[in-house]
Amino acid sequence: MTAVYPLGLNIVLARVDGALYALAGACAHMGCPLYMGTLDGFSLVCPCHDWRFDIRTGRFRASHELGLRTYPVKAENGKILVNLA
Ligand code: FES
Repeated sequence: MTAVYPLGLNIVLARVDGALYALAGACAHMGCPLYMGTLDGFSLVCPCHDWRFDIRTGRFRASHELGLRTYPVKAENGKILVNLA
């Protein structure tokens, strides 16, 4: 995982099984930087208190009312493009 900041937005990029995912980079709990967390399959595990988010949907695993914004992302001509709209 890595952090990127297009237009000043905090976004974490992850690649699992060749697929790219882009999510809000600050944890929905207390804002810890998610790029410093770990991946467990499709779960992004926050480094601070181990909250788990599904990187495909952004949903918090323990309660689907909470979650992270996700962004469409693709690789093209050697670049990673994140749709911020
Ligand atoms: S800040 Fe992420 S789990 Fe607490």
